[in-house]
Amino acid sequence: MAQAQDINPWSVTGGQAEDGTALAIDYDALSKKWNTSLIDQAVIERFEKLTGHKAHRWLRRGLFFSHRDFDKILDTYEKGEPFFLYTGRGPSTGSLHVGHTIPMSFTKWLQDCFDVPLVFMLTDDEKAIFKDKLTCDETLQYAMDNAKDIISLGFDQKKTFIYSDLKYLGGPFLMNAWEFSKTVTFNQVRGAFGFNESTNVGRLFFPSVQCVAAFATSYPEIWTDEPLEKRTKDIAKIRCLIPMGIDQDPYFRLVRDNAGKMKYPSPKPALIHSKFLAALSGPTGKMSASEPNSAIFMSDTAKQIKTKINKYAFSGGQVSIEEHKRLGGNPDIDVSYIYLTYFEEDDEKLQKIYDDYKAGRLLTGELKQMAIALLQEYVGEFQERRAKVTDEVLEQYMTPRKLEWRGNPNEPPPKIGAQAAGEKKLADRTKK
Ligand code: TRP
Repeated sequence: MAQAQDINPWSVTGGQAEDGTALAIDYDALSKKWNTSLIDQAVIERFEKLTGHKAHRWLRRGLFFSHRDFDKILDTYEKGEPFFLYTGRGPSTGSLHVGHTIPMSFTKWLQDCFDVPLVFMLTDDEKAIFKDKLTCDETLQYAMDNAKDIISLGFDQKKTFIYSDLKYLGGPFLMNAWEFSKTVTFNQVRGAFGFNESTNVGRLFFPSVQCVAAFATSYPEIWTDEPLEKRTKDIAKIRCLIPMGIDQDPYFRLVRDNAGKMKYPSPKPALIHSKFLAALSGPTGKMSASEPNSAIFMSDTAKQIKTKINKYAFSGGQVSIEEHKRLGGNPDIDVSYIYLTYFEEDDEKLQKIYDDYKAGRLLTGELKQMAIALLQEYVGEFQERRAKVTDEVLEQYMTPRKLEWRGNPNEPPPKIGAQAAGEKKLADRTKK
C-alpha cells in the first residue's frame, strides 16, 4: 500500500510506493506543502556579490535547498544592520554523527561570511520531556558533551554563545517564553506538532522555549557591556537567521506567526533549511544515532569509517564488475557518491566522477575509496580539535557575555540602545 512521507521534528519517515518499496524523501513536495521558498540561483548570486564569498558547496548543490526570508537577511546585511544566527541541537546522545554536524558546519561558515554573533541552543529540556527514557540529569550531561563536539567544529569563541536550556533559562529569556506562550493556543500546537489530551504538559510549553530563542531580547547581555538585564524595544528589532534541518520548520512557523504579538515585537526570523544526510543503508533513510550502522560518528576511527563504508554504504553499482562496465552505475542512489556531494569541494571533479560512474568507467570500490578518504579527513580534523576542548574552553563558550563581531565591514552598524549609551559614557569618561 502506498504511504505518504511524514516529516516532523521528532521523526522523519520517507514515503512508500504501491509495492512497498521505500521512496527517497521528496523535498520539493515538502517545500510546496509547507510553503517555503526554494533557494534559486539569483539568491546565491546575490549572496556572493554582497559578501564576496563563493557560495558553500552545500548551497551550490542544493543540499541547503529552501528558505524563508533569507533575502531579507541579505537586505539587512546590505544595509549594514545587525542580525544574528541561531541554531540548536537536541542532546539525546553523547556523541554526534556526521549528519548532525551538517547544519552546524554550515552555520559556522555563515558566521564566518557574515561576521555576526551566533547563539547555539542545547535543548536538554526538550529531550528529557520528549524521550520517555531520558532524565534531565542525563540530557544535561549530553548537552555538555555535545557542546564540546560543537566547539570542535571551529566556531569563533568571541562571537559564539552556547547554552543549555536547563542551566541558562531564566530572566529575560524565560520572560519571553512565558509571554510568548500566552499567545499560543492548544489548537496551534496541536496542529503544528500533533499533540492530544494525553500529551504531557511540558511538551505543550516547550515549543515556546525553542521559539523565543529567535528573539534578540532573550540574550540582552550578548549585545552590550552594560549590565542590561532587561528586554528593550531596540534589541527586539535585531533580525535572526536560523539554519536548520527542514524537520524543525514547524517550530519556526509558530514563531513567525506569533512574533508580532510580543510586547516588543521582533521581526519574523529568517530560516534556511537543509536536507538530511543519507544513512549508510541508502538514500531513503537518514543517519540515526540509535542505529550505529546507519551512521558515521564523529568519534569513529579511520578504520571504522573504512569498514562501515565498505560494508554498509548502499551502492548504485551493478552486481559484478563486468555488468558494471557494461551497464554503468547509478550515482543518484549511491550513498558513497552522495557523501562525495557533501565533501568533495571541486565541482568539476565531482561531475567527472558522476559521469564516469554512470558510464561504468568508475567502479564501486573506487568510489567508496574516495568517500572513505574525504570522511576520514573531515572526522580526523574534527578529532584533532576535539582533543583540545577542555572544561575551561567549554566554560568560555557557555558563559553569558557580550559577544564581539564586526558585521558588514563596508558600513558600520548603527548603535543599538544601551550599547550606544555605553559608548557615549565611555567617551565622556575619557574626555575628563
Ligand atoms: N529541537 C532541535 C533538536 O531536537 C534542537 C534545536 C533547538 C534546533 N533550536 C534549534 C535545531 C534551532 C535547529 C535550529 O535537534
